[in-house]
Amino acid sequence: MNIEERIRELRRDRKAVILAHNYQLPEIQDIADFVGDSLNLSMKAAQTDADMIVFCGVHFMAETAKILSPEKLVVLPDLSAGCPMADMIDAGQLRELKKEHPGAGVVCYVNTTAEVKAECDYCCTSANAERVVRKMLERYEEIIFVPDKHLGHYVSQKVGRGFILWNGFCPTHARIMPEEILKQKSLHPKALVLAHPECTSEVLHLADQILSTEGMCRFAADSTADEFIVATEVGILHRMGKLSPTKRFYPASDLAVCPNMKRINLEKVLRSLEEKVFEITVPEEISSRARAGIEKMLVL
Ligand code: 13P
Ligand code: SF4
Repeated sequence: MNIEERIRELRRDRKAVILAHNYQLPEIQDIADFVGDSLNLSMKAAQTDADMIVFCGVHFMAETAKILSPEKLVVLPDLSAGCPMADMIDAGQLRELKKEHPGAGVVCYVNTTAEVKAECDYCCTSANAERVVRKMLERYEEIIFVPDKHLGHYVSQKVGRGFILWNGFCPTHARIMPEEILKQKSLHPKALVLAHPECTSEVLHLADQILSTEGMCRFAADSTADEFIVATEVGILHRMGKLSPTKRFYPASDLAVCPNMKRINLEKVLRSLEEKVFEITVPEEISSRARAGIEKMLVL
């Protein structure tokens, strides 16, 4: 049996489901039961009736799955697959910020640790940040948005209000330069520019559409356009190509590679099923507080 067949057999024996983020390696996306963005993966994790979730993504995603499905075994095939942006704020720092702005509503991007989520009123993803904040503004005068300053700035402009931002950012999206978009536009004048809101505002200004990773995949599939310049992590091009095989996709930057997303490979997925590693746990006291903000987001 080859490695894919062994993974499929063990997945059946363990009653496991394999979830993969759009940035995962092509062979991981191809073996997964479900591939998507942070929001869709959270929803899948909450709904599945599997006994075990093998999460092919980064640590905060597996943690979110565990928070939503505490009775299930959730494993991350490589424990060192973290998210540098999520590590740019900790719970103590957020508590200090809250003290400086008593009464402000606190929203965290899903790219945060469970401890940080536990300090927040709402969680959001790139797919629903604007909707979540609009809901919060019905109740709160001031909004604290952590940790992504680029996504926070973008949403604050959309809703026409200033936010209290944290100085966090994604190092992978920060590598995408506006000059590269301009160069790609000159090479492919008919292509539409799709950008992720984790990009800098200079890049977002050059975009035709600003979307989550899943939003990009769907937009490209439904669009009458045939060519797209894609300003996000390059792993998504595999998914876009599969969904729209006749269309052409150009990475805005070949440097937009998230090393953490690339830590997971087929050998590690097989081991995670064989040995039930590496189990992700979240203490109940933190999990219950973090769950409240995630569930409020999912209801919206
Ligand atoms: P989405 O897939 O939710 O758009 O998130 C992108 C990302 O950077 C995840 O780490
Ligand atoms: Fe974190 Fe950026 Fe990698 Fe997403 S692409 S996991 S935000 S470092």
